[in-house]
Amino acid sequence: MKHVPENLAASPDPTSTPEDLDVVDQAMLDLYGPAGLKQFNELYQENSDWPLEAVIRRLSEQVISTQTQFYREPNLWSIATGAIPMLQGERPNKPIGILEIGCANGKESYSLAAAILANGHADFQVTAVDVNPAKLEAARLAEYKLYESFESLMEQNWSFPQPVKKAGYFEDTGRTWSTYSFAAPYPYIRPSREVLEKVTFQQHDIIDGPVAGEHDLALINNVLVHYPDATRDTIMRHAIASLSPGSLMTFEAKMIGRNPNEVAWLKPYHAWRDTMPERFGLTTVQPPNTLALHGVFYRTPEAV
Ligand SMILES: C[S@@+](CC[C@H](N)C(=O)[O-])C[C@H]1O[C@@H](n2cnc3c(N)ncnc32)[C@H](O)[C@@H]1O
Repeated sequence: MKHVPENLAASPDPTSTPEDLDVVDQAMLDLYGPAGLKQFNELYQENSDWPLEAVIRRLSEQVISTQTQFYREPNLWSIATGAIPMLQGERPNKPIGILEIGCANGKESYSLAAAILANGHADFQVTAVDVNPAKLEAARLAEYKLYESFESLMEQNWSFPQPVKKAGYFEDTGRTWSTYSFAAPYPYIRPSREVLEKVTFQQHDIIDGPVAGEHDLALINNVLVHYPDATRDTIMRHAIASLSPGSLMTFEAKMIGRNPNEVAWLKPYHAWRDTMPERFGLTTVQPPNTLALHGVFYRTPEAV
């Protein structure tokens, strides 16, 4: 993949050399997949006077769909089919407060709300927090390219269930987009009003402290993996303190590394996950109609 801008040699950044680029290409491919690599190349060409690091930083700040996707984790369905009815049985006549930590661009938040509605439950509210204001802006804008990037193949073939769209939880905006990667045009979509009303976004750094409000279930997918152990512990303490006693927590199912680097990167996280429940006084729960394979659930202590 050739993307070396003509003037790269004149880049003020002494660490950016053409020799690095193959490595960078590979890293972009590993991290973000082919569409992410394409986006990286486009950004690089558009800003050919920028040092490489600036391009990478901008890419990571951009709301690229590769950081999340609709219905990315199956625990969203487990919340909808199992955890919500279980909590409703335990806390009758009370709306179930869901706290999503690390909501990114909102695709997960809206998927969750739509999944719960599609399972016939309406008495809930999602508070979705993220540290990144650009992602929250996109979440509030709530207009998405359907089939946007490499995960979009999954959105197209598997994870974006057409029945949910057909049931009216997502709708076309009327705008379309195209790309040379896939056949075109594809729609821009947005959540329906019913789904939008179920989610509130808030900027919050969970490392700084708990989220105010009454929450009965915390969803923390693909956030803890990015931090060192001590920070993971801080996040856990603040997440538990954001919940009413005896609430539920759920995390993404254990990942299997796709290459030796990823396996090595995941190893300390897996070790941390193995000891985390006991260290935080969490007990494993399996809500009815759910499989552990699709995401794990824990009960927080009754007395905190
Ligand atoms: C990899 S994305 C995961 C998005 C979504 N939960 C999913 O599984 O697809 C991680 C998100 O967590 C957010 N995040 C990272 N650290 C955070 C923190 N300390 N407080 C709040 N959000 C954080 C990031 O900004 C990013 O949007």
